[in-house]
Amino acid sequence: MTLLDGKKVSNDIKDEIAEQVKQMKSNGEKVPHLAAVLVGTDGASMTYVGAKVKACERIGFESTLIELPEETTEEELLKQINDLNTNDDIDGFIVQLPLPKHIDEQKVLMAINPDKDVDGFHPTNVGRMTLDLPSFLPATPFGILELLERYNVETSGKHVVVIGRSHIVGRPMSILMSQKRNAGNATVTVVHSRTKNIEAFTKDADIIVAALGIPEFLTGDMVKDGVVVVDVGITRVSDETKKRGYRLAGDVHFDSVSAKSSFITPVPGGVGPMNIAMLLKNTLLARSLSV
Ligand code: GUN
Repeated sequence: MTLLDGKKVSNDIKDEIAEQVKQMKSNGEKVPHLAAVLVGTDGASMTYVGAKVKACERIGFESTLIELPEETTEEELLKQINDLNTNDDIDGFIVQLPLPKHIDEQKVLMAINPDKDVDGFHPTNVGRMTLDLPSFLPATPFGILELLERYNVETSGKHVVVIGRSHIVGRPMSILMSQKRNAGNATVTVVHSRTKNIEAFTKDADIIVAALGIPEFLTGDMVKDGVVVVDVGITRVSDETKKRGYRLAGDVHFDSVSAKSSFITPVPGGVGPMNIAMLLKNTLLARSLSV
């Protein structure tokens, strides 16, 4: 069994980007500038956004964190987005999800200029991705492709089962892996909460991407020997034995599944760190498109 080490690969990618930033600086070019908008004080979101800003600093990008109170109105947020859309100094920005319930997420994502949409969530970018046109790929699926590619995991002709149909992970993952691309050319099945007998599909899968958000859902008896497993889940599960009162659990029961796997991502340290690396890659791309 080989661990798909997202921490290591993401550090490699960050080093590669840092090298390019160094080049840009020495050529007297403007370095990429990422902005992140965080509404409210959700603990996990604050951690993720903090990590994104820290990663920018590490590789030499400029970054701006815009923290707005939970009570921010939809109108105020849309005004903020418009400011970022028209600010030439900002190459790309993200609005961290989830948003408070009184704000219409879709309306907010639609307001982002697709050329600055480094999350790849705007319908224009989703459409471009679907048609295999150049676009910003959403960071989590993009990171999974990169991880599979860097470990030379064969995907062509393989049966990939994606568990979950979210707009951010499951849906784009299923589209990308069926396309003619590296870490693609696969036969893809999407299973979800209404699928009857999920196990019948997972047992046949060569590669499983688990992205449903139920801790330790996928167990060893649901997979075949030699399976490749990518675990996207990261849920805080209360655990009194931990100082912080919780542990992080993936969607995969690691011990039983890893015993049968050829490759598997750990949680944490698998897909999570790749997400940030790919966001930085998209920001670098946004910079190069805006010159
Ligand atoms: N919430 C969970 N993942 C993501 C992500 O990749 N981007 C944004 N903006 N919000 C998220």
